Amino acid sequence: MTEHTQIRSEFYLEDGMTFLNHGSFGAVPRSVRVAQEEFRLQYERQPIRFAMRELPVLLRSTAATLGEFIGARGEDIVFVENASTGINAVIRSLFPHFKHGDEILTTSQVYGAVRQTILYAAACTGARLVEVDVPFPVAHEDEIVAAFVAGISERTTLAVIDHITSPTGIIFPIEKMIAACKERGIAVLIDGAHAPGMVELNLDALGADWYTGNCHKWLFAPKGCAFLWTHPSRQAETHPTVISHKYKVSYTEEFDWTGTQDFSAFLTVPNALEFYQLHGGKALRERNHALAIEARNILSTAWNKPAPSPDNMLGFMAAIEAPVFSSGTLEESVKLHDYLWDTHRIEVPVMPFNDTLWIRVSAQIYNVREEYETLARVFTI
Ligand SMILES: Cc1ncc(COP(=O)(O)O)c(C=O)c1O
Repeated sequence: MTEHTQIRSEFYLEDGMTFLNHGSFGAVPRSVRVAQEEFRLQYERQPIRFAMRELPVLLRSTAATLGEFIGARGEDIVFVENASTGINAVIRSLFPHFKHGDEILTTSQVYGAVRQTILYAAACTGARLVEVDVPFPVAHEDEIVAAFVAGISERTTLAVIDHITSPTGIIFPIEKMIAACKERGIAVLIDGAHAPGMVELNLDALGADWYTGNCHKWLFAPKGCAFLWTHPSRQAETHPTVISHKYKVSYTEEFDWTGTQDFSAFLTVPNALEFYQLHGGKALRERNHALAIEARNILSTAWNKPAPSPDNMLGFMAAIEAPVFSSGTLEESVKLHDYLWDTHRIEVPVMPFNDTLWIRVSAQIYNVREEYETLARVFTI
């Protein structure tokens, strides 16, 4: 068994495919999935004891462990099923505060589901979505900052900023974007769906009001595991989307119980972190980052398409213009995606953005250079 097949066999990924889309839903290691099952069994063996006594303690100790990894205090962290739930909790909590004409600022690279959440907020409250175009291709991160700042107005009350973008896989310079908002008294919600595990986080020092991130993408947690971090000054006004027994008791208690559910994914964060650290931690981050750049360079050379962003704006994903397309529509992106899967057994997302189709490759521990060469050859031979 080569080292590569050995690492890949630690996941459930089926044989016979080139899997270049860790970014959409992650992939859980077997060891973490086994730990998850153990938490499920713990719940089933004595459901009352688990829910009443063990769960509250476990959730708080898990939050503290996660906090050490993301530079935050455990008491500022709550678990949610996914980044969408974290975003919804914050934006819906702000409904009573939005006034007619208030502006919620985001960028053209916002994740589609988050855009819809803001549009819902607008429909319910009279606030307005303002979506600034940010350049892509991009030569320097300051182009993003300049475009974003130009979208700020007197009426901007909330900025929703991606940490790592979905359509193009670039890291936004959020420190600079947050600072621009804070100078003007604008509240900031960071959508860090892709960040935990991909970039080093220090949430206490970031200066945002809220930060939500997935553990099920790049941190090896099972699906349905994400967190919301809230600055202490905002916790009293931040509520889960599902209101339950502990309404207004405290921030952590409100989120720690939102009704009966399967809590097992949340509780495996220490197991996921153990897997992450065991496989290199910082060294794994450097390896995946280098592989993403290498992948982008392989495709760029094979397809004669320029690199659309500087290397330092990449994490573990890279987008490159698709070599064949005519219109850059959603319909065409589905066709190209399906062709790659149906004909070549390559799973890779094709993103329509700015009238262009972008192929966004992921680089995770189980990926190797040869897989990107396989993708490159589809359009060169
Ligand atoms: C930038 C961004 N925000 C939010 C999400 C939503 O994540 P989830 O499906 O875990 O809620 C994604 C998912 O890919 C994303 O890329």
